[in-house]
Amino acid sequence: MATRNTWRTWRAGVFLAALTPLVVWGWQVANNAAGPEPGRYLLLNIGTGALWMLLLTLSLTPLTRLTRWKGFTLIRRQLGLWTLAYATLHMLSYALFILGLDWAMLGSELVKRPYIIVGMLALIGLAALGATSNRWSMRRLGKRWKTLHRLAYPILGLVLLHFLWVVRADLGEWVMYAAIAALVMATRLPPVARTLPRIRYRLAGT
Ligand code: HEM
Repeated sequence: MATRNTWRTWRAGVFLAALTPLVVWGWQVANNAAGPEPGRYLLLNIGTGALWMLLLTLSLTPLTRLTRWKGFTLIRRQLGLWTLAYATLHMLSYALFILGLDWAMLGSELVKRPYIIVGMLALIGLAALGATSNRWSMRRLGKRWKTLHRLAYPILGLVLLHFLWVVRADLGEWVMYAAIAALVMATRLPPVARTLPRIRYRLAGT
C-alpha cells in the first residue's frame, strides 16, 4: 500500500524529471555547447519539450484506465502545468532570441510566419487550462470543467499544425509526433476506451 510519503516522492521525482531538460539546455548554452545558434537551439528544444509534455499529459487518462494506478492521476495537473511552462518559455525564447524584443517587428513577422499565430492560439488555450486547473475552478465550473478541459484536444491539433508549418525538408519527425498524437486520441474513442479496462482484467488474469 503506497503511503503519503511514497506519493510525495513520486511527484517530486516527476518534478525533477520535467525540470532536468531545461537545466541541461541552459547548461549547454552557458557552456557554449549548444551549437552556432544557441537561441534557436533553446527555441526548438523547448518547443519540442512542450509538445512532449502535452502528449504525456494526455496519455495519463488512458494509462489510468489501463492500469488503474493512482500515480498517473496524481501527476496530471503537474504535467499540464509543465506543458504551459515549457510553452511559455518557448514563446519567451522566440521573443528574446528571434525577435530581440523588437515588438515593432512582430506585425511583419506574423505576416511572414503565420504559424506563429497558430502557436499563440495554442498558448492562450494552454493558459486558460492552467488558470482553471485548481480545485476552486473545478468546484465553480462543475460539469463545465470537463468540457473546458477537452480544449486540450484542439490545442494538440493546433500545436501539430504549428509544427507541420515549420517543418521544411524532413517530415519524418513530424509524422512520428502525429502518429503518437493519433494513438493518444484514439484511446479516447468510446469503443477503445471501453476496451482498456478489459485488457487490464485479461492481463491480471494471466
Ligand atoms: C506564442 C506562441 C508561440 C510562438 C511565438 C512560437 C514560435 C515558434 C518558432 C519561431 C518556431 C521555429 C520555427 C523555425 O524552425 O524557424 C517554433 C517551432 C516549434 N514550436 Fe512554437 N511557438 C509558439 C507556441 C508553441 C506551443 C504552444 C507549442 C507546443 C505546446 C509549440 C511547439 C513547437 C514545436 C514542436 C516546434 C518545432 C520544433 C522543431 O522544429 O524541432 N510552439 N515555434
